[in-house]
Amino acid sequence: MSAPDAQPLRLGIAGLGTVGIGAVKIVQRHADVLAARTGRPVMITAVSARDRTKNRDADLSGYAWETDPVALATREDIDVFVELMGGHDGPAKDATIAALKAGKDVVTANKALLAHHGQELAELAESMGRVIRFEAAVAGGIPVIKSLTEGLAGNAIRRVMGVMNGTCNYILTRMETAGLPYDTVFEEARQLGYLEADPNLDVGGIDAGHKLAILASIAFGTKVSFDDVVLEGIGCISIDDIRRAADMGFKIKLLGVAQMTGRGLEQRMTPCLVPASSPLGQLQGGTNMVVIEGDSVGQIVLRGAGAGEGPTASAVMGDVLDIARGTRLPTFGQPAATLADPVPAAVSAPAPYYLRLQLLDKPGALAKIATALGDAGVSISRMRQYGHADTTAPVLIVTHKTTRDAIDVAIAALPATGVVDGSPVALRIEEL
Ligand code: NAP
Ligand code: HSE
Repeated sequence: MSAPDAQPLRLGIAGLGTVGIGAVKIVQRHADVLAARTGRPVMITAVSARDRTKNRDADLSGYAWETDPVALATREDIDVFVELMGGHDGPAKDATIAALKAGKDVVTANKALLAHHGQELAELAESMGRVIRFEAAVAGGIPVIKSLTEGLAGNAIRRVMGVMNGTCNYILTRMETAGLPYDTVFEEARQLGYLEADPNLDVGGIDAGHKLAILASIAFGTKVSFDDVVLEGIGCISIDDIRRAADMGFKIKLLGVAQMTGRGLEQRMTPCLVPASSPLGQLQGGTNMVVIEGDSVGQIVLRGAGAGEGPTASAVMGDVLDIARGTRLPTFGQPAATLADPVPAAVSAPAPYYLRLQLLDKPGALAKIATALGDAGVSISRMRQYGHADTTAPVLIVTHKTTRDAIDVAIAALPATGVVDGSPVALRIEEL
């Protein structure tokens, strides 16, 4: 219970969809627990969404309704503006700025907003003496922002990586377990409601890239630089790749990796091979996993639900409770003015690569491929040829450590060999 004279923390929630209604339900269901844990009542004053007549599976009758989220954000009777609408521009950005200027703290689940405007918003928040909290924006219910900004704050972070888009992991693992092609599983994901309104945000790696850019900023003390994230989606992955990779002891994941190297900040969100026996390799379905490596702590693995009403609202409410308790941290873990301009690494750290080629059945074909790779400075570690389909046969190659540039040079040289059918697939093998 809170003290009788304790000031309530008053929330204005904009967005009453999956996450917004989840947050409303937690406030309603756990009012006593929230008050006991913070020493003050946590209450909702006003809400906003587009359609007031929609049935939302929660009793909203006790809250004022605002059609305009900016009006909600600037109401005198709210302390915290909870932005759960989405979108990196438009109402989410306008209302967040209005809230900060009106002296409100902000809690948001909006990774797109922070990936595109994080620095500007962090500077504004600090100039107004306000905080922006966004645990739900990265990996849903997993407390990864809190881990980086608080529990691991004493470490120099070496690398942050993970599977941060549940929809892509669902598609890849379902292709593998059901033996279904990409297009079929993509359609299944759409029917299940897993895909964003613009599916390319998921399968194009953009949503996960937003999350990686936010983590990189906190981990390496740099300004958020989403434009520097190397992005590749999962649309190029075939069931054959998944099967062949499995034969060689790997799983394919849409993997985000951020690391500070001697050549600058490397941020990649690309399909990669990881050892099947590793925690990342064993991650099934829509679950997320974030791996953090610090100089003192070593490796930490965080795993859990990256999306959905309960897990995401759980993260939103964790932020609200921190504000209720008076915890105040700079947005990206250090004052915005001290965040460095990141120098993007021009090339990724060397790694082994997986190559899949469809080879014409001609004498000397393998030798020509080996020569093209050798000429590009790519050395072969393992090679496997599978049974013929008509006049061609799939050939898999695992290279020794090399650069993406060298792989691209080799691939560009392959058509001239006259023995390759179709487009080769090249995927990085991430060393864990
Ligand atoms: P959603 O179900 O589509 O709900 C969006 C809500 O925002 C709806 O209630 C909508 O109103 C309202 N809204 C949209 N534009 C508005 C406007 N101009 N004015 C007022 N209200 C407006 O979205 P969601 O899944 O809850 O996601 C919300 C945020 O959480 C996004 O930033 C998303 O990226 C993030 N997030 C979501 C998940 C997840 O699992 N869903 C996980 C992590 C992060 P109507 O209902 O009237 O249309
Ligand atoms: N589309 C996202 C995912 C939702 O599939 O993980 C959570 O950000």
